[in-house]
Amino acid sequence: MISEHLLGWYSSNKRILPWRETKDPYKIWISEIMLQQTQVATVIPYYQRWINSFPNIETLASADYNDVLKHWEGLGYYSRCKNIHLTAQSLGGKLPNTFHELIQLPGIGEYTAKTILAIAHNQQEVGIDTNLERIGFRLLGLKKKSKFNSNRVKKFLEKIQDKSKPGDFNQALMDLGSSFCQAKAVYCDPCPITAECKATLNDNPLEYPEIKKSKPIPTVNVAVCIISHNSKLLLIQRPQNKMLGGLWEFPGGKIKLGEPKENATTREVKEETGLIIKDPQYLGEVKHQYSHFKVSISLFYHRIDDISSIKIKENYIWTTIKGVDKFALPKANYKMLELFNKDISL
Ligand code: ADE
Repeated sequence: MISEHLLGWYSSNKRILPWRETKDPYKIWISEIMLQQTQVATVIPYYQRWINSFPNIETLASADYNDVLKHWEGLGYYSRCKNIHLTAQSLGGKLPNTFHELIQLPGIGEYTAKTILAIAHNQQEVGIDTNLERIGFRLLGLKKKSKFNSNRVKKFLEKIQDKSKPGDFNQALMDLGSSFCQAKAVYCDPCPITAECKATLNDNPLEYPEIKKSKPIPTVNVAVCIISHNSKLLLIQRPQNKMLGGLWEFPGGKIKLGEPKENATTREVKEETGLIIKDPQYLGEVKHQYSHFKVSISLFYHRIDDISSIKIKENYIWTTIKGVDKFALPKANYKMLELFNKDISL
């Protein structure tokens, strides 16, 4: 019954999304990885650019990683991009079509594996993300977040899934989760399954499931220096295995407790590059928020003539300002460039 109502609604109200125009497992895979922790509206242009440049596993596998990463620039959680590229290179042209094999691939967890199987291969799987879980809790009238209740939701959704249209069933619930049945807003009147929803019948669906208080987000203080030499700027590539792996940035690092920001800048530049800078020019503060912390960046500028002491472990380049575009940079570095361009002309 629930499934029937849901799919009836979905067939005439589903969102038109580029990855819904295909069953190509490669494209479904790319879309699902991009959609992890990222909103649909953000993903659409990224997905389109990606598929234009890398229409299949072979083109992706043979592409240079800097080019691949440039296509991901701004999407965040960059290990997703690295995992996709490494996986494409290891696959021999074809994504596997069993749960057992998919789950072994880096970046593919239970949710993503099941969602790919349901959408691309019509297999009877339910991929449960936070949206589907929330809807399940509401349908069953469960408040308490626990493994036991999550398991009940899982069993329940698997039981009511339409066996002939598993991909539509999954995606109909996703659409419900982004429209009538959001975490912080519900519109029960137009919802196609409101009559079957225990949370609505009981009282206030917004109380299902209970919401855990989120932790306050810490701020990290960082000092960064844009260094120019012969009218070019120094960019250093972050190690692949770290946060923002593979992206290019200006040198800098954490300010120690009680350390003046200017000292932190010269110290960090020396440690990271071997270059000795004196009296760098302070340009201002740049703020940026990542998912689990905020950064406050004290931005400095320094022009250097003698670079004979340069010693950098990672890849680095000297680039013109225009040339920066060729590289993938963390968002915060673009904010720094804006501040830099306002104050400095090379
Ligand atoms: N979120 C994750 N996967 C999705 C999909 N296939 N359609 C819409 N939103 C999604």
